[in-house]
Amino acid sequence: MNSLTTPTTNDGELQAWEAPFLCVVQMTGLNKFGRRSVDVQQPVEQLEGRSIEQLLATYGSPLFVTSEQRLRENIRHLLSAFSSRYPEVIHGWSYKTNYTSAICRILHQEGSWAEVVSAFEYDKARSLGVPGAQIIYNGPHKTTASLQRAVTEGARIHLDNFDEIAALEKIAGQQKQVAQVALRLNFDTGYTDTWSRFGFNLDNGEARDAAVRVMRSPHLKLIGLHSHIGTFVLDVRAYQAQIRKMCGFMRQLESQYDIYLDYLDIGGGFASRNALQGIYLPPEQVVPGFEQYAEAMCTTLHEELLDRRSLPQLVLETGRAVIDEAQCLLTTVVANKRLPDNRRALVLDAGVNVLFTGFWYHHKVQLTQPSRGYPEETVLYGPLCMNIDVIRQSISLPPQQPGDRLLISPTGAYNNTQWLQFIEYRPAIVLLHADDADVSVIRQAENLQVMNAQDRMPSHLETPDGV
Ligand SMILES: Cc1ncc(COP(=O)(O)O)c(C=O)c1O
Repeated sequence: MNSLTTPTTNDGELQAWEAPFLCVVQMTGLNKFGRRSVDVQQPVEQLEGRSIEQLLATYGSPLFVTSEQRLRENIRHLLSAFSSRYPEVIHGWSYKTNYTSAICRILHQEGSWAEVVSAFEYDKARSLGVPGAQIIYNGPHKTTASLQRAVTEGARIHLDNFDEIAALEKIAGQQKQVAQVALRLNFDTGYTDTWSRFGFNLDNGEARDAAVRVMRSPHLKLIGLHSHIGTFVLDVRAYQAQIRKMCGFMRQLESQYDIYLDYLDIGGGFASRNALQGIYLPPEQVVPGFEQYAEAMCTTLHEELLDRRSLPQLVLETGRAVIDEAQCLLTTVVANKRLPDNRRALVLDAGVNVLFTGFWYHHKVQLTQPSRGYPEETVLYGPLCMNIDVIRQSISLPPQQPGDRLLISPTGAYNNTQWLQFIEYRPAIVLLHADDADVSVIRQAENLQVMNAQDRMPSHLETPDGV
């Protein structure tokens, strides 16, 4: 049993009771240097009943494997944690986290709107059938054409800066329409770094000036407030501070001007069960569950908005915590090496080119065949002919042979969008169906044709010898 804060008496005053929560505390593997990096050595031979060897033989290595069932369970869990505590909750799927079409489609089927941050992501959401009115358009760079489209289609446009306010006002005016807008805010929560480059600062009065500017325009309608306080936020008190600041600003605007806002968008940032580098304890112990985030946030919303006529819609843009654990990466050992300092190294066919999040996580690495000897500290290199290509500086693994497979997880967030087309072809992504035993390719591996598709050859270079 564990609890985030212990109710104590403070100057004779009892603090509010907080619901306890259960969390498994793993004592083994910890020593004075931290957690031993021995990942579970029980081999994993199947994923949801599908043989790993068979998957790799069919679809090639490396391979991203996505679980439809897990993804649906995750989003349902998130929504039920919040909607059982707050009347109206909307989830906007943060496209940048993973915009593979099938993954977006599953989340939209579960009721998620689209949260997009570029013209490309906007177009992609529309191409997947998301109505404009269910698109939240964030980001510091929105092209004129995409803003024209967003105004016409009734998207929620989240304003980032004064130049954007002026540009949008002009566009909406030319189209004789009224754009539905929210202000993106930044401020100091006391718990997170202030991402002050996005939106308008609340603490120095800039946000208030922006709100006045918007409210004076006949072509802009202020309908909400937005902020995204950071990512992988482990302390739920950061969200409580965020909500207090946003509610305070909302009340201030509503009491001074003739407006009533429809929604508060608190952005994303919930941590996934991944091991962030530099965090001492394992994710199972430090990452709050959806219930813990929801309890802290919804309680604060109710407290702050007790005397408001009605509660605003609550918008969540949770990305990584929804998709990360629904996907893993299968990779093949290419070679063994012994480094000059006597450390053992493995060359894998997947590196930071496909596992971009290897730069900031210590992913879990599991064997897919029984262990053949004693574990030894090992460096995991990817296939790139570049020194940066290291996915684990140190992990304890038993001997591996070329052709052995390793399972790396969780990988669902920020890899299938931030992967680099660099040196190697990018691999396929498959989906394990939830309702039958089938597996579908949801993104094909690249090949030479794909790589050359965007290149153009000037006529004087058309032949190899120039004649
Ligand atoms: C505006 C906005 N919303 C949502 C997200 C998703 O964040 P996360 O994946 O941490 O939940 C991001 C990520 O940076 C973001 O910038």
